[in-house]
Amino acid sequence: MKKLLIKNIKGLAVAPEGQTGPIRGEQTKRIDLIENAFLAVENGKIADFGPMREMGGVNDWSDLEVIDATGKFVLPAFCDSHTHLVFAASRESEFVDRINGLTYEEIGKKGGGILNSARKLASMPEEELFNSAMKRLSEIRSWGTGAVEIKSGYGLSVESELKMLRVIRRLNEESDLTIKATFLGAHAFPAEFKENREGYVKCVVDEMIPAVAAERLADFIDVFCERNYFTNEQLDAILTAGVKAGLRPKIHVNQFSVMGGVQTGIKHRAVSVDHLEEMSEADFVSLEKSDTIATALPGCSFFLGIPYSPVRKMLERNIAVALATDFNPGSAPNGNMQFILSLACTQMKLTPSEAINAATINGAFAMELGAELGSIALGKKANLILTKEIPSLDYLPYAFAANCVERVIIHK
Ligand code: NIG
Ligand code: FE
Repeated sequence: MKKLLIKNIKGLAVAPEGQTGPIRGEQTKRIDLIENAFLAVENGKIADFGPMREMGGVNDWSDLEVIDATGKFVLPAFCDSHTHLVFAASRESEFVDRINGLTYEEIGKKGGGILNSARKLASMPEEELFNSAMKRLSEIRSWGTGAVEIKSGYGLSVESELKMLRVIRRLNEESDLTIKATFLGAHAFPAEFKENREGYVKCVVDEMIPAVAAERLADFIDVFCERNYFTNEQLDAILTAGVKAGLRPKIHVNQFSVMGGVQTGIKHRAVSVDHLEEMSEADFVSLEKSDTIATALPGCSFFLGIPYSPVRKMLERNIAVALATDFNPGSAPNGNMQFILSLACTQMKLTPSEAINAATINGAFAMELGAELGSIALGKKANLILTKEIPSLDYLPYAFAANCVERVIIHK
């Protein structure tokens, strides 16, 4: 396998050493920057790094790529732990409806929203779905993402949910990004179950979960616990079945209302609970005492004009926070993690270092990938961002809507 040496790096962003779990509290502020640094990759792994003065000579030049990073920074590639990037069509007409006064929830109630996406996905051939998702994947890669979680949930039938998950599996096989798959059959109630919600829950539990598990098509299980969607009791029943089938929970909770989903997720040892725009004191207390990561999705708040998750307060209370895009056609039609950093800093008052840690190492742990990627550490997979020439790492969230990423280096 090709070897790589990056030299003259203006600043190499190294996370605190020996990180065996997500970063919490005060620690989240810390990024150690090695100035004028080098980094060596061998067999796909980070083999060595440090200041230039400690760089040894090269004995073997065969298959060695050398990059001169003068004026540029190297940091871990972004780990986007929550997306819905397999979808059939964009939904800008709903965007216009919202500008004209409808809310996201009202559009959903009228059969738009997730059901709109499900209708379009049902008729799209698998190959086409794959090709469109692959394009989105290359786009997010060019913006700095090296690992990503992708959910099903626009299928809402056994056949279409499996189709989505097969597309996700093929994306993982054919792209160099590391991809984790989440089964989200419980994303909305399809029209034919409108009057028989329990019937759909039964279909998820008795038909979908066994089919997904039999083909090993997913790593995680998700449920959209929300008013007009799945109740806390339904969440509990679906997670019970999912966990039994070997899937770990990563769930949608507290986007619009507090329904007890945070506690149910924690009870089932959820890897993460995501959204959290609305938080009760009891939710803070439960998260403080748990290993579950709180994943905030500021792109969704920006696009829907709903409150931002109170992550500043979460950090103060020692809760592990991850940041993700929620890339989907309804509430966050963009997968640019650099913009997420900018929103986290400007709207949620995170410092650039806190935002970067939440978007890299904690995102990796929120996909159960923390041991292999998400930070610059010896033996970890080479999943790196080489920036353009920029004055500092803080410039990354500061220069909002700019692309500061020159190149993403992935040795899968
Ligand atoms: O995370 N809230 C539920 N699911 C997605 C949006 C899905 C859609 O509108 O297509 C979210 O915001
Ligand atoms: Fe989502």
